Amino acid sequence: MAAPLFIALEMTEEYTKMRTEFHTMLLSKLKDVGEPRFNLAHEKLFNIIIDADEILGAAATGERQLTEEEWNALSSASDDLAAYTKVHFAEEEAFLVARSYPESDRHRATHLGLVEELNNFQKKVAQRDEQDLKEMRRWLLEWLLSHINHEDYAYAQHFFGKQ
Ligand SMILES: [Fe+2]
Ligand SMILES: [Fe+2]
Repeated sequence: MAAPLFIALEMTEEYTKMRTEFHTMLLSKLKDVGEPRFNLAHEKLFNIIIDADEILGAAATGERQLTEEEWNALSSASDDLAAYTKVHFAEEEAFLVARSYPESDRHRATHLGLVEELNNFQKKVAQRDEQDLKEMRRWLLEWLLSHINHEDYAYAQHFFGKQ
């Protein structure tokens, strides 16, 4: 009876490393904003989001509550996401101001709003508030992609002639 257990464990480990087709598709939709370090930051942030989504998805698929281990992993993902997002936003804002981007203030205001929502997500995870998880999951997958492909892409068009 040891063999099936071994296989099951192996599959679980595989699963945690796996990117679902849906996640790969979303990742491929991130637009090139013309500045390599920002593209890298966007990918890094989106990968953290995918990690979090996989945890939420595993619980949702099994129609069960998150385990202690999953809460801890989600908590560390949300801490990383909040921390790296703030670093990236600050770098992007400095870049836009240094180049006198006409929409700098508006871009900064959008960042501030996103940070607020991100802090809210982080707080909910820290409090282990499972109630809004479904809604949070949707938001988690949408906010970054939408910001990059619209607001960030606007400066890519302005500075780098992206079409
Ligand atoms: Fe960005
Ligand atoms: Fe931005």
